[in-house]
Amino acid sequence: MANETRILVAEDDVSTHDEWRESLSAWGFNVETAEDGEQATELIKSFHPHILLTDLRMPRKDGLQLLRDIREIGIDLPTVIISGQGDIPDAVEAIKLGALDYLRKPVDPPHLRQMLKNLADNVQMREENLTLRRRLADVGELGPLFGRSLVMRRVITAIERLAQSSASVVITGESGTGKELVARTIHETSPRRGAAYVPVNCAAIPETLMESELFGHERGSFTGADRRKEGCFETANGGTLLLDEITEMKVELQAKLLRVIEEQKLRRVGGTVEIPLDVRVLAASNRDIEQAVRDGKLRSDLYYRLNVFTITLPPLRERADDIPQLVQMFITHYGEQNHKDVAGVDAEVMEAFRAHPWPGNVRQLRNVIERALIVCEGRIIRKNDLPEDFRAATSPDGGFVKIRLGSSLDEVEKEMISRTLEFTGGNKTRAADVLGVSAKTLYNKLERFGQQQPQR
Ligand SMILES: Nc1ncnc2c1ncn2[C@@H]1O[C@H](COP(=O)(O)OP(=O)(O)OP(=O)(O)O)[C@@H](O)[C@H]1O
Ligand SMILES: [Mg+2]
Repeated sequence: MANETRILVAEDDVSTHDEWRESLSAWGFNVETAEDGEQATELIKSFHPHILLTDLRMPRKDGLQLLRDIREIGIDLPTVIISGQGDIPDAVEAIKLGALDYLRKPVDPPHLRQMLKNLADNVQMREENLTLRRRLADVGELGPLFGRSLVMRRVITAIERLAQSSASVVITGESGTGKELVARTIHETSPRRGAAYVPVNCAAIPETLMESELFGHERGSFTGADRRKEGCFETANGGTLLLDEITEMKVELQAKLLRVIEEQKLRRVGGTVEIPLDVRVLAASNRDIEQAVRDGKLRSDLYYRLNVFTITLPPLRERADDIPQLVQMFITHYGEQNHKDVAGVDAEVMEAFRAHPWPGNVRQLRNVIERALIVCEGRIIRKNDLPEDFRAATSPDGGFVKIRLGSSLDEVEKEMISRTLEFTGGNKTRAADVLGVSAKTLYNKLERFGQQQPQR
């Protein structure tokens, strides 16, 4: 194993680095050396080291700058700092920049050897995720999950790290930021991918049916239960269950949910048999989940049980760097679907996209592109192909809804809801807030209008 572990040593002192090259090779590592930070950066790209040992003071680019660059490129390279006397404040800074540890000169060889061995073991574990890494077609792309911005690359790295575990994860972020996609990706990159992935939207299912939806029921257990039904937990057995919009679940049911998760077994509603479970539970919310805990809407014990890891997806307006890649991806996707040969968007459109607040986040961007592709007549999407609020370059806040005299209240309501959803880019939670109703009420109304999922 050690043979395969590539270590890059960045050190400007030639005699020191020759010495190290010898020791490290003797210990069985594959070593390259760089004489300064610039050379190290080049070698990181060509030699692909597993571990970096770097001096702090080097010509051309020092150790701290090297660390910043590594962070900027978004690669995950375990780094140990070698500091000279008096470099302690910089060593502290280096740790803040993500270095794992520092060794003070002169370095004690047995200590160094042990440290490298531990790191190499760690690397080996990661190499076992190779199949997963192979799916990374490019930096910032994990399956269908795109994003080159620093935050998204961190999200992708986090998902990779979580892949081997069965720990619960809480995924938060505004509507349309990709929570469901992240949940699915967690499932699909995990050893559970052969079993089912079952998403349940706690806001969309009527309260009275929620319990049997989750845990299943026996025939005759309540009026209308004319057949035995398997619940989502059972369907997800061996796989992954996503509890979407978890804060919308009734508090009494949350207690039962917690028990099922802790005991890893359940009884169907009206049933007597205990069914053993092996389910990874993920939870998502587009609300401030900690506020929901404070407000008593989400039981704190359930929250702590679920929140082993948190993935927070920032709104699209805070990661404009993701926009070009997402735009291109959606153009390719919907272009193929609609048999349209469109190459891209012009600079003016890209600029408008970067400046847009995107209340509906990636989903809204997707919808805008999908629509523009249909309207667009040339090979390039121009401003004229975009919805009104982009063309006017103003926020849609000043929008009006025209209602024909003689409309029924039902029609008015339907129009208001659909226009508000347009305004929020399909963000239902925000639409509910704007309309002054609960998310649940909005879902009920949408259900009634037969457009449960107006924007998929
Ligand atoms: N990083 C991404 N790369 C590619 N597609 C994305 C990304 N993020 C979101 N999308 C796409 O945007 C749409 C919305 O994503 P998703 O349904 O996961 O959002 P959400 O956060 O669950 O929203 P909601 O809170 O409204 O349920 C989907 O079509 C998804 O494929
Ligand atoms: Mg969702």
